Amino acid sequence: MGKYQIAVLSGDYIGPEIMKAGLKVLKIVSENKNFNYDIKKLPFGGDAIDKIGEPLPQETLDVCKNSDAILLAAIGGPKWDHAPVRPETGLLTIRKSLGLFANVRPTNISSVMAAYSPIKINDPIDFVIVRELTSGIYFGHPRSQTDYEAIDTMRYNADEIRRVAKIAFEMAMERKKHVTLVDKANVLATSKLWRQIVGKMAKDYPEIKYDTSYVDAAAMKIIHDPSQFDVILTENLFGDILSDEAAQITGSLGTIPSMSKGQMGPALYEPIHGSAPDIAGLGITDPISMIKSVAMMLENSFNRSDLAQEIYLAIDRSINEEITTPDLGGTSKTEQVTAEIVRAIKESRK
Ligand code: IPM
Ligand code: MN
Repeated sequence: MGKYQIAVLSGDYIGPEIMKAGLKVLKIVSENKNFNYDIKKLPFGGDAIDKIGEPLPQETLDVCKNSDAILLAAIGGPKWDHAPVRPETGLLTIRKSLGLFANVRPTNISSVMAAYSPIKINDPIDFVIVRELTSGIYFGHPRSQTDYEAIDTMRYNADEIRRVAKIAFEMAMERKKHVTLVDKANVLATSKLWRQIVGKMAKDYPEIKYDTSYVDAAAMKIIHDPSQFDVILTENLFGDILSDEAAQITGSLGTIPSMSKGQMGPALYEPIHGSAPDIAGLGITDPISMIKSVAMMLENSFNRSDLAQEIYLAIDRSINEEITTPDLGGTSKTEQVTAEIVRAIKESRK
């Protein structure tokens, strides 16, 4: 069998530190496992602005399009606050250009992680947020800004809602068969359209329990009783906000991966957090979000949940041994956590 091509976008600040960890684990876990791949490292974000003058160079986009999967670490930071085009624009453009309309962000609190949660965990927490990623207020027009007035537009059409909702329903069928649409249908026209369309689609999935929640109430429930959720389906901006909140109840934003995918073509895997300029270079960044992004890639793009499971178990083991970076209360360095995860994988194979 041929080799898979994986595009690697390390990005800015802590980006390269965690990417190094992710690639190390990928190398170890795939050894002698009939998983062959080549990586291609490409400039992206602020790094690409510095080197090439734009956050998403054409070559980066072309190679990504022709890859089997894309790994992205993190981009952005104060260095480019006044750049004519910000690094974040590169991220929005790559999502749009590759048609990555569905963003899947898991919140899974294993028994090992429960101790790290800022909330009391009574029941198992395992839900995913399916966030619409290429429309809504992030992309809608008109959009303008003067010194006196600024306009953003939240806009959705039926097709954009349907295709992401389909992904949510199909995921729920493989999980706990429960979909919650999160919106603001008591105020927003776009939300009313989401309710109309998703409500109708729900009838095609009679086995699925379908309900809805206003976004303000959902924000509260994620803290108050997160065990009630399975698949949360929501639009772009609400999903951005709720996924950071959901990440925080696991104890650290530094442990959460994500997958962005479209109808076809490569999916993109990235931590949900940013480039953390405040801790870059200190060697204390939690690599788990990136390592889990690698696992998510193996599972979803390459059908290798066997390798993904090995990674998840090794991560749990390192946390159990309290070999953790400061975000999880430990004193270990990025490299020590990575080394421990590598060790746990190797040991489980003996
Ligand atoms: C995320 C990030 C991005 C977003 C930013 C960097 C544009 O916060 O991936 O959640 O808002 O989508
Ligand atoms: Mn975000």
